Amino acid sequence: MQVRVVAARPWDVEADILAVPITSDAPSDELLAELDRRLGGSLGSYRAIGELDGKAWRSAMLAGGGETGVDWVLGMGIGVLGEQTRVTAPRIGGALMRRLIGVSVGRLAVWLPSSLAETDGVGAAALVELVARGVVEGMADPYAIYREDIEREVPPQLDELILCVVDGDLKALGAAAERGAIIGEGGNRARRLAQRSSNDVSPDVLADEASAIAAEHGLAATILGPEQAAELGMGMFMAVGRGSDNPPRFISLRSGGAGHTGSNGRLLAMVGKGVTFDSGGISIKPSDRMEEMKMDKTGACTVLAAMATVARLAPGLPLMAVAPAVENMPGPHSTRPGDVVRALNGKVVEVNNTDAEGRLILGDALTWAEQQGATHLVDVATLTGAVERAFGKLITGGFGTPQAWWDEVSAAGERQGERYWQIPLIDDYKAEMESWYADLQNSSSPEGSLIKSGLFLREFVTRPWAHLDIAGTAYLRKNMPWGARGATGVSHATLVELALNGA
Ligand code: BES
Ligand code: ZN
Ligand code: MN
Repeated sequence: MQVRVVAARPWDVEADILAVPITSDAPSDELLAELDRRLGGSLGSYRAIGELDGKAWRSAMLAGGGETGVDWVLGMGIGVLGEQTRVTAPRIGGALMRRLIGVSVGRLAVWLPSSLAETDGVGAAALVELVARGVVEGMADPYAIYREDIEREVPPQLDELILCVVDGDLKALGAAAERGAIIGEGGNRARRLAQRSSNDVSPDVLADEASAIAAEHGLAATILGPEQAAELGMGMFMAVGRGSDNPPRFISLRSGGAGHTGSNGRLLAMVGKGVTFDSGGISIKPSDRMEEMKMDKTGACTVLAAMATVARLAPGLPLMAVAPAVENMPGPHSTRPGDVVRALNGKVVEVNNTDAEGRLILGDALTWAEQQGATHLVDVATLTGAVERAFGKLITGGFGTPQAWWDEVSAAGERQGERYWQIPLIDDYKAEMESWYADLQNSSSPEGSLIKSGLFLREFVTRPWAHLDIAGTAYLRKNMPWGARGATGVSHATLVELALNGA
């Protein structure tokens, strides 16, 4: 799909459909008023009978033609003008594509009045970037991945997206829109992979996907099998995959050359949990919703896709992705509750709950990333059910230390319209993770279990580190007006923004 930003009045732009955001508080906008006049006053009359009152995601398709350059005008309610933020901007794009399911459209124009860029310090460049990303993400529907001949049931695939602004630096805005589209494509790559079922995506398949990304973008790939991982001393990583016939793969991608850091002296490692299915192992989960545990590889999919996206936007930038991939199954070879293993950093860990497996593979992956020279770490993981209970499906909970590093990670998220909330790391709770037999155990009482998940991971890092628990936000259980049910691609954009560090 081609993306363009044009400076034009909304009636001058030529397209199949012109989308027009409609706010519920109807501030006076001369251009919108003139467009309405050219539409014979239909926007006004639709508003008057309540059909297009600006309430978020209520919409109506109007005939264009006549004194406009488009065949159709799609009015899309977006709510109160003053409540528009970087979180809502991509949803405008997403809602348009969801609304267009079943509609034939190749060229879509979106009118972006300057008032939208002015609220909450969003800014014109961020607005076009985020709306373009939303459109691209809105075009993908995880519902389609195993089906054929369902074009009419999924969003149309646009040939061209035209973002129409009043004025501004069109070159800079065009670049911003292009960046948004590329980040959207990367997010979709993460979503497609995360969404695939566990009989389709084993650790080996994740490794193949990583190799394909490496070949596509000229990255260095390291893929360790069980013998090598055991040899290196990854006792926690090795504890999880034992019950499965699908052998573990410790996957890493790197750009920028071995031993290289960025101009700021940093090497960021993005570490993603890659549990291709989490049955719980011997500490088996209840059957209710167990099928959702195909999504337990989302962190890995996200860091691999982010690596590819950064390679497109800033080729050669020193960066690392680490994706420990395992399948957590019960079986005669499974780790048992009470088994004691030695982590890559030398700590001895009692696995008292085989369902707290994410922290085991991530702990060794974080140590490995540091051994490879990472100066800064961020991990992304569907780690706890507790984070979903606390924050729901629209806020990612996380931890970070030192505070300045957390602030940097969450600021990157804010710029990309993704919400994070910091959870405190309280040392007092460490006492509850003490073990009779080992330095620590991997799970304890449910009180404060979310905090304890962070405390456990902190045992395996010595450098600036942030942990993003996407267990709630990684996938939606139902369609939203602005987004499809299934994998969301959450935190892909944040990681890309963080890696680019303003570049
Ligand atoms: N993969 C799960 C967490 C999860 C739960 C993700 C629901 C998505 C939706 C994780 O491995 C897990 O089982 N966590 C346990 C930890 C507990 C045993 C300390 C949990 O949250 O119950
Ligand atoms: Zn898990
Ligand atoms: Mn688990």
